[in-house]
Amino acid sequence: MVEIRGAQEGDEAGLRELDAATWSSRVSPAPSPDPDRPFLERFDAGGVLVAVAGEELVGYGILAPWLPLQSAAHVVELRGLAVAPGRQGEGIGARLLEAAISRVRTAGARRLVLRVLASNPGARRLYERHGFEVEGTFREAFLLEDAYVDDLMMALDLSRWSTSPPRS
Ligand SMILES: CC(C)(COP(=O)(O)OP(=O)(O)OC[C@H]1O[C@@H](n2cnc3c(N)ncnc32)[C@H](O)[C@@H]1OP(=O)(O)O)[C@@H](O)C(=O)NCCC(=O)NCCS
Repeated sequence: MVEIRGAQEGDEAGLRELDAATWSSRVSPAPSPDPDRPFLERFDAGGVLVAVAGEELVGYGILAPWLPLQSAAHVVELRGLAVAPGRQGEGIGARLLEAAISRVRTAGARRLVLRVLASNPGARRLYERHGFEVEGTFREAFLLEDAYVDDLMMALDLSRWSTSPPRS
C-alpha cells in the first residue's frame, strides 16, 4: 500500500536517490542531480510530499511559493513531481498530484502553476487530466540533446473548481 505524507528528515537519502533515478534530459533541462547535494535543504520541508510503500520512498512532489512576493502569495508552484521508474504507471503520480492540489486548496491558494517540457507527454497528460491548462510557451527554451525544446507553463485555476475538474 502506498501512503502519501509530508517529508521528514529521514527521507533525505531516498529523495536524493529518487531524484537521480528519475532525471533525464527529456524531463528536466537541469544537469543530472549531484548525489552529494542535500535535497530537503533546497526546499521548505513543509512543501515536500512523499509517497512511501513500506520502507521504500517511491515518489515525491514539491510545492513552493511561485515568487517571494506578498502580491503573488496566492500562487503556488509545483516545482517537481517524480515517481520511481519501477513504480510508474500505477497511479502514484496522480495521487501525489491530488494531494498537492488538496493541500494548496486547503491553504487558500488561488492558482497552482508549473513548468513542464514539451518533450514530456506523460507528465503533460497527467496535468491536463487534473485540470491544468497551458497558459504560455517559452519556445525553444532549452537545447537538449541537439534539439530545441519548448518549456510550457501550465496552471490550475483553483477558484474555478471547488472539487476536482471533470476528467476528459
Ligand atoms: C510524470 C510522472 C510523475 C507520472 O507518475 P506516474 O505514477 O507514472 O503516473 P500515474 O500512474 O499516476 O499516471 C497518471 C496519468 O498519466 C499518464 N502517464 C503517466 N506516465 C505516462 C507516460 N510516460 N506516457 C503517457 N501517459 C503517461 C497515465 O496514462 C495516467 O493517465 P490516465 O489517468 O489516463 O491513465 C512519472 O512518470 C515520472 O516520475 N516521470 C519522470 C519525472 C517527470 O517527468 N516529472 C514531471 C516533470 S514536470
